[in-house]
Amino acid sequence: AQAAGGCPFHAAGGPAAGEPAAGSPAAMAEAFDPFDGPYQLDPAEALRWSRDQLPVFYSPKLGYWVVSRYDDVKAVFRDAILFSPRNVLEPITPPCAEAREVLTRYGYAMNRTLVNEDEPAHMERRRVLSEHFLPANVEAHQAMIRRLTREKVDRFIDEGRIDLVDAMLYEIPLTVALHFLGVPEDELERLRRFSVAHAVNAFGRPTPAHQIDVAHAVGRFWQYAGGVIETMRADPDGTGWMHHTIRKNAELPAIVTDSYVHSMMMAIIVAAHETTALASAGMFKTLLTHRDAWEAICADPALIPNAVEESLRVAGSAAAWRRQTTAPTRLGGIDLPEGAKLLIVQASANQDERHFEHAEQFDIYRDNAVDHLTFGYGSHQCMGKNIGRMEMRIFLEEVSRRLPHLRLADQTFTYLPNTTFRGPEAVWVEWDPARNPERSDP
Ligand code: HEM
Repeated sequence: AQAAGGCPFHAAGGPAAGEPAAGSPAAMAEAFDPFDGPYQLDPAEALRWSRDQLPVFYSPKLGYWVVSRYDDVKAVFRDAILFSPRNVLEPITPPCAEAREVLTRYGYAMNRTLVNEDEPAHMERRRVLSEHFLPANVEAHQAMIRRLTREKVDRFIDEGRIDLVDAMLYEIPLTVALHFLGVPEDELERLRRFSVAHAVNAFGRPTPAHQIDVAHAVGRFWQYAGGVIETMRADPDGTGWMHHTIRKNAELPAIVTDSYVHSMMMAIIVAAHETTALASAGMFKTLLTHRDAWEAICADPALIPNAVEESLRVAGSAAAWRRQTTAPTRLGGIDLPEGAKLLIVQASANQDERHFEHAEQFDIYRDNAVDHLTFGYGSHQCMGKNIGRMEMRIFLEEVSRRLPHLRLADQTFTYLPNTTFRGPEAVWVEWDPARNPERSDP
């Protein structure tokens, strides 16, 4: 078996390896830094060399094995026993002692939820909590999403220039998520700051000084989540998924544990809205960059569902996920030891030529766009995927109908530096309100 890119397990005790030749796969593996330049700009492009030459490699800067090809990423998702999800939410940059102390002062005890729980506990819990995600229950949110979207579009339709994220793509997914969960919709701005801190804590590389600020925000978020649970417990007839979870906690405390309820309350607020907001922002950026695709959906809204899938493929908001091996195994021709931490890069898998023809092309007519791995795969696959999809579809239906002449403004897109959550922080768009179709055809 090949030992890739300076692996500490193979190097331990062995002869010191020489410097890898510049541009060689080993040198690329050593240089790989997901918090910097190329990966932040375009994770799929940054890993093209890996898909072609070394599909599984050890990154010394990250301390993880990186997996870049479609079949390998899918194989890892498929086997949640051999590839445990236990490290999915663990801080990818271990916090410094002072940050850990701050977290302890807040009583922070984030633990297993669903997404990072092993079997058999995970499936028992997922089964007990799946009812709200059934198609008929998801469908029940459609009218609310459309109403919120129309209200937002009404508000900015005559402005001629806005940041779509600020004007609608952040707030609507957050409002929908809180409504779905049954969480009081009172502190949207605060939740936004908490969510960014949670993402940086789990997936970012904050400096030690920044870690202290992040620890305070995460600690406050933890306490806020505890307070929300207490408020919700006082309303035993409340509706929404977290109310259901709290009732199941009373009925089946060994399956839906106290620790789960508190950890999930914090994690799900982020999982349910940040992902959808970022994916929606990525979708508008991508479609407006490909004008022919935008005009096609304006002319024929029946193309929208596949345009959503193709956007999730090339600009999905979950760029990479994590797993840890529970036994030695072999993946992509590379031997992995037990306990190896893996960064499985969906953004790269989604642009693997071995699965998607002309993978780098954005093609809303692609017949296998839906094969993307942005929602994961297998027993942990995203439970909220159809809520996210529905929101994205409705955003496109409403905006393309009322503002077909929308165009991207000149701008430099920025992204929160992290391995996993991906989407532009702002999407500035412009149009001429005098040309709004409803002015000539009200
Ligand atoms: C799990 C992505 C929206 C709830 C996941 C996973 C990913 C993901 C990558 C892990 C999958 C795996 O390990 O195989 C996304 C994206 C979204 C989105 C890209 C939007 C575009 C939502 C929404 C909700 C939600 C709206 C809830 C209302 C969950 C839950 C899990 C999960 C509960 C854990 C499932 C389990 O481990 O059994 N999501 N998600 N997600 N997601 Fe989402």
